[in-house]
Amino acid sequence: MTQTERPLDVVILAAGQGTRMKSALPKVLHPVAGRPMVAWAVKAAQELGARKIVVVTGHGAEQVEAALGGSGVQFARQAQQLGTGNAFLVGADALGDTGDADILVLYGDTPLLRTETLRALLAAHDAQGSAFTILTGELPDATGYGRILRDAQGHVERIVEEKAATPEEKAVREFNSGVYVMDARAPELARRITNQNAAGEYYLTDLLELYRQAGAPVRAFKLDDPDEVMGANDRTQLAQAEAILRGRINTAHMKAGVTLQDPATTRIEDTVTLGRDVTVEPGVILRGQTRVADGVTLGAYSVVTDSVLEAGVTVKPHSVLEGAQVGQGSDVGPFARLRPGTVLGQGVHIGNFVETKNARLSAGVKAGHLAYLGDVTVGAETNIGAGTIVANFDGVQKHQSQVGAGVFIGSNSTLIAPRVVGDAAFIAAGSAVHEDVPEGALAIARGKQRTLEGWSRRYWGGLREGVGKKLPWLAGWLERQ
Ligand code: UD1
Ligand code: CA
Repeated sequence: MTQTERPLDVVILAAGQGTRMKSALPKVLHPVAGRPMVAWAVKAAQELGARKIVVVTGHGAEQVEAALGGSGVQFARQAQQLGTGNAFLVGADALGDTGDADILVLYGDTPLLRTETLRALLAAHDAQGSAFTILTGELPDATGYGRILRDAQGHVERIVEEKAATPEEKAVREFNSGVYVMDARAPELARRITNQNAAGEYYLTDLLELYRQAGAPVRAFKLDDPDEVMGANDRTQLAQAEAILRGRINTAHMKAGVTLQDPATTRIEDTVTLGRDVTVEPGVILRGQTRVADGVTLGAYSVVTDSVLEAGVTVKPHSVLEGAQVGQGSDVGPFARLRPGTVLGQGVHIGNFVETKNARLSAGVKAGHLAYLGDVTVGAETNIGAGTIVANFDGVQKHQSQVGAGVFIGSNSTLIAPRVVGDAAFIAAGSAVHEDVPEGALAIARGKQRTLEGWSRRYWGGLREGVGKKLPWLAGWLERQ
């Protein structure tokens, strides 16, 4: 819920180009710790219990709107980037009649701003009976920011932009973060902002003086940590923001009972959830809608995306999982690859160099080595021998196969899809299975073995010269024949 009795509406300014990113992607869509930057502002607004959230778009509007589609926000397009004052008005117009709501202004490129900080800002705004509260910070060198100018009594008087600041004003350490809480008068007052300044832009910062002229109390609320409003304007700042957020996320997981063996190399996106007593080895990357239950171990350098790992699962090093569901107590890897549509029941064993895709393996299935299982269902306790391949693709189409429970598939077999193998069937090693196998049957689908006695002596004997030089043991063997 909001901090005050009044509702809260939020305007997120995100129409700017962000040329310093040097990117085809709009700046606010660059991901940080698993969310596009602008989505961090939306998340904070939602956590504050905002009634309405308007995102002002401009550069790359279609992409930004598509990325945030479904998150319950409204969009307002700013046709031309005429300045923050104009952007705010475009957003306020989209809010419509806000009644007595407060309006919070956020930027789409400050992913480090904490919801708790905004809560404190709203609480201070309310407690002080302020009409307009600016979130400020202090830095030894505030170059690039608008500076906060106070009068002799310490009241906030004006914001001067870097471009227009005198050398004395530039020495001021207190800066404008660009985040403001405003009472319901803001849209009306903002209409009076002009572009009569050196830059010819509509400055939202002029709102401060318009409030003062209206005789309304204006206050500043100072951040403890100025890094929170650090904008990610280029790739260096993007990496800094990423590192800070990664640290926060990792710390929260450790506090909640997760062991991170090497937090510095662990990257867990904000969207991921982890249970208690999860152990994360070095170099692990967890992404997207991944859900990890209690007691799971994630092996070194594994990458897990959009997957569900049930309690007690072990993922061994260097495994890659995407869109997979792994049942309780299963173990996967090392060097396994589970692709989308993989569903493993309880206690499934997937060993090294096994790849699965759109594969449902029931409880207790074992595929220990070097297999490809695509578009297939496998019944309980079936053993899939080393090197088994489900040949699911005929060059044009994929085909679905079914393998029953309790089946034994000998090593290096190929199931040519679509294939049905009945329960408790047995497939001899090295078979190319091109006909269905009924329940309980043995299928042997390989050439019959011929054994030619004495063949080696004849073969190598014909090559005696070369064998003598290169293969001394074999040369000795030939002598003894
Ligand atoms: C602004 C403030 C400055 C403050 C700084 C904090 C003004 C005049 N100055 O300066 O006091 O210290 O933020 O970072 O407001 N945007 C639009 N449409 C526009 C212009 C901007 O949506 O027409 C958006 C941008 O995408 C960005 C935000 O507003 O997210 C701030 O714009 P920017 O141009 O970066 O403002 P600054 O010059 O940095
Ligand atoms: Ca800026």
